[in-house]
Amino acid sequence: MFLTHLECAKCGLRHEADRVQNLCTTCGAPLLARYDFERASVEMRPGHLALRVPNMWRYREVLPIADPRHRVSLGEGFTPLLATPRLGGAVGLPRLLVKDEGGNPTGSFKARGLGAAVSMAKALGATDVCLPSAGNAGSALGAYAARGGLRAHVFLPKDIARVFVMETEAYGAEVTMVDGLITDAGRVCAGLAKEHGWYECATLKEPYRIEGKKTMGYEIAEQLEWTLPDAILYPTGGGTGLIGMWKAFDEMEAMGFIGPKRPRMYAVQADGCAPIVKAFEEGREDAPMWANAATHAHGLRVPKALGDFLILKAVRASGGTAIAVSEAEIVRGVKDAAAAEGLFMAPEGGACVAALRTLVAQGRLGAADQVVLFNTGTAFKYVDLMAPLW
Ligand SMILES: Cc1ncc(COP(=O)(O)O)c(C=O)c1O
Repeated sequence: MFLTHLECAKCGLRHEADRVQNLCTTCGAPLLARYDFERASVEMRPGHLALRVPNMWRYREVLPIADPRHRVSLGEGFTPLLATPRLGGAVGLPRLLVKDEGGNPTGSFKARGLGAAVSMAKALGATDVCLPSAGNAGSALGAYAARGGLRAHVFLPKDIARVFVMETEAYGAEVTMVDGLITDAGRVCAGLAKEHGWYECATLKEPYRIEGKKTMGYEIAEQLEWTLPDAILYPTGGGTGLIGMWKAFDEMEAMGFIGPKRPRMYAVQADGCAPIVKAFEEGREDAPMWANAATHAHGLRVPKALGDFLILKAVRASGGTAIAVSEAEIVRGVKDAAAAEGLFMAPEGGACVAALRTLVAQGRLGAADQVVLFNTGTAFKYVDLMAPLW
């Protein structure tokens, strides 16, 4: 076990990792897990990794649960990083790669974060876990809670696609529909969590979802033989994956796996909900609540992100930018990826495909760049949502 403590992402205050912790007790910011990288790097050498299981737990030294018996796992992670020359070539990016997260358990990258969070919840003695969700996180929580023998309570916006409700209930979770968006669902969830003593797994409100998500950064490096690409496009709602990958890069550098070079990080949002894009353009350090958030890419329908300041910091430090695309462009992106490469992406992935064209036109991406585009989920759960625009 190499986890040493938790550290506030804003004020740096140290918190112990041997008990349930949510936000910083002093300033209310998210907590980040810290490890003994000197010891971890003795055990986890790049050359040894090839022999390990092909899932996210291959990076066990930098994950909070070291003992395999305590993991709640469905085999999440180690997804393909696919060369996509036809999709990329059409927009002048012959070196485009897609990290395809659609094959994860429950059909999205949320499996990584919830796999880690539910494992830790169980290890810390929790019996009930809860979160508000745009859909995929709720079904992932339900699945991992079922797998680990915990009770799950999931709070969803009322207008969510029926498939998410059916799936989450099928896992035995208690589903509550809330009038409003994920932020409204979050308020209801937080109130009940406090009342009943449930372990709250809302994005960045506990420190371990980001640990699961950061493994996407480790995987990209491993799959590119311990180099990082020139650019990464990431569909950004709460931003856990982007923040997590940025954290992973620093960790890998601390362990001597990679050098100081970082990819330019491009946070992709939808025109109808683009708080990070607005804040980036206005030079702000945080992103105020976005009014009347609307997009059929429900994972991007996050009007206020708890980790907004971390997303903005990473994007700026990387030399990237934040960019919004329209609903029609998102659907076109889904169709383009399907026709060119046989990849049926969630609209969140389609948003990244759509952003490629603009970033090339703006001269931010070019033919020499190795670009990794994230498809964060399968399209199958979104068929009804996309149908009106198809
Ligand atoms: C398919 C999909 N993509 C992207 C996102 C946004 O992820 P993050 O919260 O890490 O920004 C979500 C979140 O619900 C999602 O379900």
